[in-house]
Amino acid sequence: MRFALIGAGANGTVHARLIEALDDDLVAVVDHDLDRAQQLADQYGARAYATAASAYAEVDAVSICLPSALHADAAIEALYAGKHVLVEKPVDITLAAADRLIAVQQETGLTVSVISQRRFQEPVRTIKDAVDSGALGRITSGIVESAFYRPQSYYDGDGWRGTLAIDGGGALMNQGIHALDLLVWMLGKPVQVSARTGQLAHENIEVEDVAAATITFESGAIGVLLASTAAYPGSPVRLSIHGDRGTATMDDDRLVALTTAGAVGEGLGLVGERSAVELAHLAQYRDFVGAVTEGRAPAVGLADGRRSLATVLAVYESARRGRPVELDE
Ligand SMILES: NC(=O)c1ccc[n+]([C@@H]2O[C@H](COP(=O)([O-])OP(=O)(O)OC[C@H]3O[C@@H](n4cnc5c(N)ncnc54)[C@H](O)[C@@H]3O)[C@@H](O)[C@H]2O)c1
Repeated sequence: MRFALIGAGANGTVHARLIEALDDDLVAVVDHDLDRAQQLADQYGARAYATAASAYAEVDAVSICLPSALHADAAIEALYAGKHVLVEKPVDITLAAADRLIAVQQETGLTVSVISQRRFQEPVRTIKDAVDSGALGRITSGIVESAFYRPQSYYDGDGWRGTLAIDGGGALMNQGIHALDLLVWMLGKPVQVSARTGQLAHENIEVEDVAAATITFESGAIGVLLASTAAYPGSPVRLSIHGDRGTATMDDDRLVALTTAGAVGEGLGLVGERSAVELAHLAQYRDFVGAVTEGRAPAVGLADGRRSLATVLAVYESARRGRPVELDE
């Protein structure tokens, strides 16, 4: 499949590597900073363009690695040009933008997948299987921690990071959404959120660097979330899912416990190999290409991206209002 990469920044560079690793063709790199596009394009024998419209004729699909508030518009433009779309998280920063994109995807019938590469990590899949198979019994609670650290220079470096208008949020919208997406994937439909946010360790940003929330799910299960970019030196995502017959925990990107009533066992500890997040990113690319070529839905679709975004926005609203808020999909 021939890809155009839209956005040749930090993450675009990773996507270029992934497309090459997949044996798909990166034929165009688009960035309004044409020098930046050219530099990356040169490494992969691709052509550089300043606008996406000039690249469409050469490609089957686009990967969108633009700043977050530009995602839906770029995806809609590509869909109307007849291209399949792999868009980075978050799907966009407002539900109105996500809904516009969902409408155009439905109208065109083309494939759109939202990056949530952690869903493809080996230990995460093992935990999800344990949830879905009933091995953990009735799921009662889950807890995720995205305790990252970003120095002040991270926010100072690029114009859009830490802004409400383009980043749309901070530690949760940009980083913690990965962990939140796992919690929501495991526990189902969120119905109520109670949250607090703070801006504690960074200056000149309009967004939170700490967010904490409890989330009640339709099933009655209760989830706990911490997202931070102020947790020096930063830790890998930690996830535990508890049921009335078992518990599964991922830490340091490994499955460190899977204990079920039927098979209690230390023996099940440390099951699974360390799985780099980039390998998971590659697995999501593979899924996207498979979805396009086989004409099936991608593993992570727009409804998934929208649900995680809605939960992020509910966290912000609850923190702003100082009271729980209901989610209504
Ligand atoms: N899945 C992940 O783990 C992961 C990791 C990092 C970033 N991301 C996501 O990737 C996206 C990009 O992040 P980044 O760190 O690469 O940002 P970045 O600032 O490094 O890169 C963004 C690029 O977009 C270009 N650009 C901006 N506006 C443009 C426009 N209108 N037209 C064309 N090009 C334009 C910029 O020149 C820049 O090269 C964000 O949405 C972020 O949330 C995801």
